[in-house]
Amino acid sequence: MPPWRLRDFHADDLDQAISVWDQSRHPGEPSPVFAVSEVVAAARSGQPAVVAVVGDELAGIAVAQFQGERAWIVTVGLSSRWRNRGIGSALLGELETRLRSLGVRRIGALLPPGGAGTTALRNSGYHERGELVFFEKVDHSGASDAGLLAELGAQAMPRGLWQAMAGMESEKQIIDRRIVLPLTEPDAAQRYGVSPPQAVILFGPPGTGKTSFAKAVAGRLGWPFVELFPSRLATPAMAMAAALREAFTTLMELDAVVVFIDEVEEVAGSRSGGRSDPAHGVTNELLKLIPAFRQRDNRLLICATNSVRSLDSAFLRPGRFDYVIPIGPPDATARAAIWTRYLGPAAESVDVGALVAATEMFTPADIEFAARKGAQFGFEREIEFRRGEPACTNDYLTAVNETRPSLTEAALADFSEDIEHYTRL
Ligand SMILES: Nc1ncnc2c1ncn2[C@@H]1O[C@H](COP(=O)(O)OP(=O)(O)O)[C@@H](O)[C@H]1O
Ligand SMILES: [Mg+2]
Repeated sequence: MPPWRLRDFHADDLDQAISVWDQSRHPGEPSPVFAVSEVVAAARSGQPAVVAVVGDELAGIAVAQFQGERAWIVTVGLSSRWRNRGIGSALLGELETRLRSLGVRRIGALLPPGGAGTTALRNSGYHERGELVFFEKVDHSGASDAGLLAELGAQAMPRGLWQAMAGMESEKQIIDRRIVLPLTEPDAAQRYGVSPPQAVILFGPPGTGKTSFAKAVAGRLGWPFVELFPSRLATPAMAMAAALREAFTTLMELDAVVVFIDEVEEVAGSRSGGRSDPAHGVTNELLKLIPAFRQRDNRLLICATNSVRSLDSAFLRPGRFDYVIPIGPPDATARAAIWTRYLGPAAESVDVGALVAATEMFTPADIEFAARKGAQFGFEREIEFRRGEPACTNDYLTAVNETRPSLTEAALADFSEDIEHYTRL
C-alpha cells in the first residue's frame, strides 16, 4: 500500500495546492502555460481535480479542463518532499479515469521543456509532439482575473504616477532601486543574488507621499493595486481576523498584485495588546499571513504608517518585511519641484523661491493645498476685475499663511529618532 491516498480536490486544499504549485516549478524555468489563477478557477468550477494526500499533507495535485472529447491538463504538481515516488503517475491515472468517464478521448498537456510533470506524462504513455510550436497572445489588462479583481476593489494604476511624484529624489531612488528594479528585472536580480522584495513598510509624517508612492509603484510594475482596510473587512458574520485571512486567500489567486495597508499601526500596534481588543487577534493573524503571502512571486505588500514606533515589535522583526523605508518631509529642492508641479503654468510668473522659503514645515500635501488655494485667489480676483492677470506670488503667499503646516518640531524630532531606530534598507 502506498503511503498516499488519492481523492477529489476540496476548497480547503487551496492554500496547500498553491504552495505545491509553486514548489513544482524550478527557478528560472519559463512560466507555465496555465497560470495558477486558471488552475484554481478550473478546480473550483468543478473541472476534474484530484489530489494526493499523506495524512493532512497535500503531496500532489492534478487538474484538467475538458470540453467534449478533448481535455487539457492544466497542472500536475508535486510537493518537493514527494517527488520520484510515482505519485505524479498515480494522479494522472486517476485524472484520466475521471476524464474517460466524462467522454474525453484526447488529453493534452503543454509544459516548458523539462517542466514539472514531464516524467509522469512520459511514464503514463503521453507522446511528445516536438514538431508543434506554441503560439500565444496575452491581453495584459488581466482579463482572466477580472472577476476577482472587481471583488477585491483592485485598481489599475497609471504608469505616469511615478513621474507625477515631484522632488523626493532620495526616496524615489531608494524605492526605485530596492523595490521596483528587482521586480522588473528579475533575471538580472537572480544573477546577482538579489531577492526581490515581497513586503515593505513606508513610514513618515502624514502627507509626505506614502500612499502616493505605493500607488506609483503599482503603476511602474503594471500590477493591480488592492488596498485592504482591515477595520472595514469585518462583518457581523465574520470577525476581522477571519475576514483578513479570507481576503489574503483571495489575493493569492491573483497572478500579480500590490497589496496596500494604510495606517497599519491600527491593526499591528503594540498597544492593541489586550486580549479583549479585537485588534490583538488581527495583529496575530497578520503575522501569520505575511510568511504565507511571501511564498509566491509577483506580489508585494506595502504597509504605511505615521507611527512606526507604535508597531508591534514582532511585526518589525526581520523575515517579515524586506525593507523599512522612511518617507521624509520635502527639503528645499523637493519643495521647489512640488511647488512647480502644482503651480503649473503660473510657475513662470511666480517667485517659487519665496514660496519654498515660506513653506519649511509643509508636506507635499500642504503645498498641494496651498497651491490650489492661491490659484483660487487669483481666479476670484479675475472674476471681480477682469484684468486678465494670472495668480501672483502674493496670492500664493497669502494662501501659505492661511494653511497650517502639518509638520511640527516635535514630529520632526520623533521622525529623526524613528529613522535611526527603524530604518532597514
Ligand atoms: N512628491 C509629491 N509630489 C507631488 N504631490 C505629492 C507628492 N507627495 C505627495 N503628494 C500629494 O500629497 C497628497 C498626500 O499624499 P499621500 O501620498 O496621501 O501622503 P501620505 O500617504 O504619506 O499621508 C496627495 O494628494 C499627493 O498627491
Ligand atoms: Mg496615506
